[in-house]
Amino acid sequence: MRQLGAKRRLFLAHVIKQNIKFRNWRLIGPWVLDSDNKIRYDFDIFYIVHEYTVKMELDLPIFEPGWVWLAGAGPGDPGLLSLHALNGLRQADVVVHDALVSPEVLSLVRPGAVLRHAGKRGGKPSPKQRDISALLVTLAREGKRVLRLKGGDPLVFGRGGEEARSLVAAGIPFRIIPGISSGVGALAYAGIPTTDRYTNSSVTFLTGYGVGGGIAEDIDWDGLARSGAALVIFMAMSRIDQIADRLIKGGRSPQEPVAVICKATTPEQRVVETTLANAHRDVTAARLEPPALIVVGEVVRLRAALDWYGALTEGKVLDPDPLGVDSHAAASLA
Ligand SMILES: C[S@@+](CC[C@H](N)C(=O)[O-])C[C@H]1O[C@@H](n2cnc3c(N)ncnc32)[C@H](O)[C@@H]1O
Repeated sequence: MRQLGAKRRLFLAHVIKQNIKFRNWRLIGPWVLDSDNKIRYDFDIFYIVHEYTVKMELDLPIFEPGWVWLAGAGPGDPGLLSLHALNGLRQADVVVHDALVSPEVLSLVRPGAVLRHAGKRGGKPSPKQRDISALLVTLAREGKRVLRLKGGDPLVFGRGGEEARSLVAAGIPFRIIPGISSGVGALAYAGIPTTDRYTNSSVTFLTGYGVGGGIAEDIDWDGLARSGAALVIFMAMSRIDQIADRLIKGGRSPQEPVAVICKATTPEQRVVETTLANAHRDVTAARLEPPALIVVGEVVRLRAALDWYGALTEGKVLDPDPLGVDSHAAASLA
């Protein structure tokens, strides 16, 4: 039970009534105010209050029938969802989601909405990209509010651009809602800065996945090896041996630090720290499961200072100066 002041209750009731009338809101189930001015705090009420706070206070958009919202769900932790994505989940009639969208995020969908899985599942047949695009068009033409929800950010190795182009070709109105890419979120939860002025002033996102099953051949591996950029490599765990080989041949030190972050931002997150020379051996021994990201670069050393998640969950003791140059003092004084 949750106590609302009489004034606030009247105002809330007014707002809800006005919005039902003028903005075509849909009320899900009954809501009850009892004689003590207590409002029953069940999911229905939560939904109304959500509508009130999100739509009125933040003025987030109404999801119109026949529209597709192409949204990123972040790397897993539902707390990393954007308010726009939550607003989409609360209004959508159908959520077409990838395998990487966590169950916790999907549980935020409004009651009665349909969940449709459309993504790659290891070892099982996956729907073809053109079938997914066609499904989005069909559902929108049926007048549904369609939330296309993808893991991380929809436009980072997510084929969101292809799906959006299909919508353009079919004349379907759409909106794109960015998400926190695992390329940034996984690093933050592993305690690795994406950039740090003491280690790397650039970062490169790349895929380890090549069309023929090996590593991507259209990537200039020697150029990457020569650059001082930290590398964040998606879809690469099963090719870590070939990638490490190419980078070492291109000039990176075999001792260059590597972190492999799997199931980042979920309760099953695991991180293996290793080097380019030992990456394959250590990752195989750790029996990590996908999804996983590989991070290559000196910046990985900062994990010894910044692994807040390890400190929180395992009581890890943090070292304020893992670079050995008292850079933390420099950083705090700068
Ligand atoms: C098809 S890509 C999608 C990337 C996604 N659009 C993003 O921005 O994070 C899938 C790859 O993203 C990475 N990935 C996604 N979620 C992850 C997570 N929670 N932990 C580690 N890696 C993740 C893995 O490399 C995985 O193979």
